[in-house]
Amino acid sequence: MTQDEMKKAVGQAALAYVQPNTIIGVGTGSTVNCFIDALASIKDQIKAAVSSSEASTTRLKALGIPVVDLNEVTEFDIYVDGADEINAQMEMIKGGGAALTREKIVAAVAKRFVCIADSTKQVNVLGKFPLPVEVIPLAREYVARELKKLGGNPIYRDGVITDNHCHILDVHGLAIHDAKALEQQINQIAGVVTVGLFAHRGADVALIGSADGIITISK
Ligand code: A5P
Repeated sequence: MTQDEMKKAVGQAALAYVQPNTIIGVGTGSTVNCFIDALASIKDQIKAAVSSSEASTTRLKALGIPVVDLNEVTEFDIYVDGADEINAQMEMIKGGGAALTREKIVAAVAKRFVCIADSTKQVNVLGKFPLPVEVIPLAREYVARELKKLGGNPIYRDGVITDNHCHILDVHGLAIHDAKALEQQINQIAGVVTVGLFAHRGADVALIGSADGIITISK
């Protein structure tokens, strides 16, 4: 299977976790786009979607899937999203598409996080993919200095404004052995909106597309 075929396969496979007449949390990215396309085939069987980005909202609506505001929803069963990296503990780096803040919020409300990814995203140690950190624009250089103290090399993602009107720093050069501790540490820096480490709220199920088919990993 090519990488695109793996993305389509896991997008389709995630439908097995969709219960009839429920609200579905929907992430962001090229793998999730495959899930959204698959979801459209059963749109009459679901209540609505809660979306993690303007991009996903646009795609969902274009396919006739109703989107509801998260504030109107108390709880829902599953959140389906991709990852930039995922380790054996089901901890992830996310935010390559700059949607990390809303992704973290929607994931927090969902009962289960279903990660869909191709096997290139599986790693032993998180950090080869630069860690995205969303920051309040005013705080960008201060946060960058603090991230340097933690051993990283933050690079401003020039020209990118998030859905929340904030900036992104991509932190290069980290080898993340204690993702939960680093997530907490970065969260404490004033001016950080969200760090793209999903360790405290990692995935519960991972559907990994590989050359041999889909591998399902459950916590
Ligand atoms: C979006 O901000 C990200 O968290 C995506 O979920 C992640 O980058 C995976 O995207 P792809 O499916 O496009 O690789």
